[in-house]
Amino acid sequence: VVAVTEYTVVYDAAQLVRNSEEGLDAVADAAVAVEDGHVAAAGATDEVVRAYPPENAAVAVDASGKTVLPGFVDPHTHAVFAGDRADEFTAKLRGKTYQEIAAEGGGILRTVRAVRETPREVLVRNLLSHLDEMLAHGTTTAEVKSGYGLSVESETKLLAAIRDADERHPVDVVPTFMGAHAVPDGWETDDYVDHVIEEQLPAVADRGLAEFCDVFCEEGIFSVEQSRRVLAAGSEHGLTPKIHAEEFERIGGAELAAELGAASADHLLQATPEDARALADAGVVPVLLPGTAFALDADYADPEQFAAAGAEVAIATDFNPNCFSQSMEFAVDLACHGMRMDPGSAVRAATAGAAAAIDRPDGPGRLREGDLGDIVIADVPDYEHVPYNFGVSTVETVLKAGKIVHDTR
Ligand code: NIG
Ligand code: FE
Repeated sequence: VVAVTEYTVVYDAAQLVRNSEEGLDAVADAAVAVEDGHVAAAGATDEVVRAYPPENAAVAVDASGKTVLPGFVDPHTHAVFAGDRADEFTAKLRGKTYQEIAAEGGGILRTVRAVRETPREVLVRNLLSHLDEMLAHGTTTAEVKSGYGLSVESETKLLAAIRDADERHPVDVVPTFMGAHAVPDGWETDDYVDHVIEEQLPAVADRGLAEFCDVFCEEGIFSVEQSRRVLAAGSEHGLTPKIHAEEFERIGGAELAAELGAASADHLLQATPEDARALADAGVVPVLLPGTAFALDADYADPEQFAAAGAEVAIATDFNPNCFSQSMEFAVDLACHGMRMDPGSAVRAATAGAAAAIDRPDGPGRLREGDLGDIVIADVPDYEHVPYNFGVSTVETVLKAGKIVHDTR
C-alpha cells in the first residue's frame, strides 16, 4: 500500500528566496513543496520534484520565469477603523502639518469619534476589505493595532473585530492593544494612563484579545515614564511590548524599548546610532515605516545605522487613515527608492525581519523546511525587479499554508 499525501508544489521558478540566519539565500531554478501547511522541501527544482512530482500534486504551479518569495509580513498597521480622512490629505498638500490637523480636531481623535459610533460588524467588514488589498500585494501575515477606541468598550470592540476578521480571512492577523495611542477629549494624560492600565488592559487581557501592547511614546503624547508604566503593566498581563518611538522628537523611546526587551521599536526617524546599538544589543527589532515619511513628506529613517549596529531590520506599511497604503510591495519600493535600502535588504526586512518584529522567528517570512507554506509568486525574474518595477503590482499568485488564496494568472 502506497501512502498518498496531498501536497502543493511550485516548480521551475527562475528564483526562490528562502531566507536563512545569515541573509536572503536566493536559489536559481528552484521549487518549493508544501505539505500539511508547512514547507516540506525548498531548493533546486530537480531535487524537489523528484520527491514531489507536479503530476501527483494536489496543487501544482509552474513558476517559469518568475520569483518565489515568502509571503510578506506586515508588522505594523492600524488597519481597523471607520470614517474618512481624505480631506486631511489635501490639507497636508496645501501645507498643514499633521500636528495642526490634530489640534483642529482631525487626526487620530477624528477616527476615534467615527469608530465609537460604528458597530463591530461594520469594523469587521472594513478590515476584511483592507486585508483583501494586503493579500493582493503579497501580505500573508499582518499585525493590526487597536487604538481608535480609547475606552474599555471601544478598544475591546476593535480587538474583537480584529479577531473576527482573522477567523474569516486567509491573512493571519496578529492583534496588538494600543489604548495608549492618544489621550481622548476631556482627560488629563496621567488619569488616562491610569485608566488604560486599570480598566482597559485587564478587560483586553482577560478576554485574550491581544498578543502585544503598544504605546505612542512622543513629545506631547505619552512620555517615556508614562509609556514605561503602560508597557510594564502590559507585560504583567502577558502582552509583549512594542513602542512607537522617536518619530517626531527623540525623547528616549528607543532606550525604553531596549530596557524592556520590547519585540520592536517603530518609526525611529529621529533615532541616533546609540539608539540603534541599544536596540540591536537588546534584540529589539527596528521597524521602519517609509510610507509614513512619504505621506508626511518627512525625512526617511536611516536603515544603514540599524544594519551597522547589527540589528535585524523590519519594514511595515503603518497602514492607517494618515498613511493610506495597505501594500507591502509599496513599502519595499519606498524602502529602496526613498530610504536607499538595497533590494535584497528590503525584501529581507519585509519577510524574515518583519516576522522577527512580531516574535515569529521561525514561522512566516522564510521558506525553509518546516516553515509556514506562505508563498508569493511575483511575475519578475528575480527579487531585484520587485522594487525596480515600482507603482505596479508584480504579485501574481499568493498561497497561504500551501493553498492558493489569490491569483491573477
Ligand atoms: O503610526 N503615530 C501614531 N499613530 C499612527 C497615525 C495614526 C493616525 O493618524 O490615525 C502612526 O503613524
Ligand atoms: Fe503606527
